[in-house]
Amino acid sequence: MKRVRLRFARGVEVEFVDRDRAVRQVSGIAERGTRFPLVVYGPEGCGKTALLRQAGAIFEEHGYSVVYVDPLAESVGDALHYTGPLRDIVREVLGLFPEPYSRIVDAAIRIIGEAMRRLRRPRVALLLDDLFQAVGPGVAERYVKALLNLIEYPPGDYESIVVMVSSSEGATRKTIGRHSWASPRLLWNMSKDGFAELYDKVPGPKPGYEEAWRLAGGNPRYLGKLYEANWDPAPVIDEIARTRGLEALAKTLGTRERELLQAMLSDPDTLFERLGEPEAQRLAEKLVELNMIVELWDRNEWLWIDTPPPEKDPGLGIGRHYAWQTPLHREAMRKALGHE
Ligand SMILES: Nc1ncnc2c1ncn2[C@@H]1O[C@H](COP(=O)(O)OP(=O)(O)OP(=O)(O)O)[C@@H](O)[C@H]1O
Ligand SMILES: [Mg+2]
Repeated sequence: MKRVRLRFARGVEVEFVDRDRAVRQVSGIAERGTRFPLVVYGPEGCGKTALLRQAGAIFEEHGYSVVYVDPLAESVGDALHYTGPLRDIVREVLGLFPEPYSRIVDAAIRIIGEAMRRLRRPRVALLLDDLFQAVGPGVAERYVKALLNLIEYPPGDYESIVVMVSSSEGATRKTIGRHSWASPRLLWNMSKDGFAELYDKVPGPKPGYEEAWRLAGGNPRYLGKLYEANWDPAPVIDEIARTRGLEALAKTLGTRERELLQAMLSDPDTLFERLGEPEAQRLAEKLVELNMIVELWDRNEWLWIDTPPPEKDPGLGIGRHYAWQTPLHREAMRKALGHE
């Protein structure tokens, strides 16, 4: 299998590492196709984009015509990637859109449709990164339905079709989950062994591996951020707090919410135990929306891409029902609470 190259941090590129189970799952998907759009959720920076890109390479090796869209990129050229034989179709379809950049997801769906019409029983794969961030949570459902239609009522014949979408938008999980239009799956941060492989590739002096693991909890983006901060966690924690307005949030909290958040620092499942209280429900919604915590499913392997997190890991802030996205997120919350 060809491993894709990824930008890891300033001046550092790495090859896609680990994720062995995910790679096996993707190869299985290449054999069978997807009956429903596969929607991959997971903490920010856990590796959804990396996995989607690697999946693109795997599908190509299995003879698929692949369209990969990064709708948040800054130009059409950066946003749309496709395998060679689609070139003419892509050029034609883009010509139909007066401003393809603003309609890149629609253009990609159209490209796949045209490929089905014109190629003889093709294998096609459509990979949409950050779909909901791009189209907005309000129309996320509509897009997922359109993708399902592409599978169920294709404009042409196909041998096999794969539709994969990624999202770190925890808030869209409920809106998508209430329909039977998609197969939602969770991708967690990297496992301890996989993360070690990535850590070994980080150049220069670095803290011991256990320290890196304890801070980033297997999240590859935050490993990169720690590297860029010369391994000082303080600015990384500050950035999490600042970008989400955690101090302001802390100021709006009532006594019960504050006390609940404090308890969540040692055990995120406290939130689950108290979900009967309206304050806890509000807090759960807010923290999911801010990408601070993730609501986990049970560890039933088929619900997960790659290996699920451990059942409980208090050190990393992982509970049975809820988890801090990384230990750094938990520290950012702790700090914001301390500022009051
Ligand atoms: N399996 C992997 N091997 C090597 N590097 C990886 C791997 N997974 C992720 N990375 C690196 O970690 C960083 C974050 O990964 P990525 O961008 O895929 O996260 P993401 O889940 O898509 O984040 P977001 O939620 O912001 O979209 C990137 O620099 C990427 O190159
Ligand atoms: Mg991404």
